[in-house]
Amino acid sequence: MPKITYVEFSGKEHVVDVASGLTVMEGARDNGVPGIEADCGGACACSTCHAYVDPDWVEKLPAIEDMEEDMLDFAYETQPGLSRLTCQIKVTDDMDGLVVKLPEKQI
Ligand code: FES
Repeated sequence: MPKITYVEFSGKEHVVDVASGLTVMEGARDNGVPGIEADCGGACACSTCHAYVDPDWVEKLPAIEDMEEDMLDFAYETQPGLSRLTCQIKVTDDMDGLVVKLPEKQI
């Protein structure tokens, strides 16, 4: 099962096993990682699952789609190229070792 590291804004790390097929957001939510709120439950309609992908992983993830890009406009302090909505990243086996950093706050 892929291990994903969620890094809180404070620097505290949470290394979580996330089953393939779940989303990066669900991996955080189901394991009590603070900092991802996911108010809309993963429908790409709230932007409160925003996180920064580690630069080493940006190119390895599926490309961002228009709906996610539009919704990211509402996220807090986005960083071009690194910001993603974690509910739109479906975990696959080759994401073992993925690192995402959480923003200071959501919205
Ligand atoms: Fe609402 Fe991701 S959970 S946009």
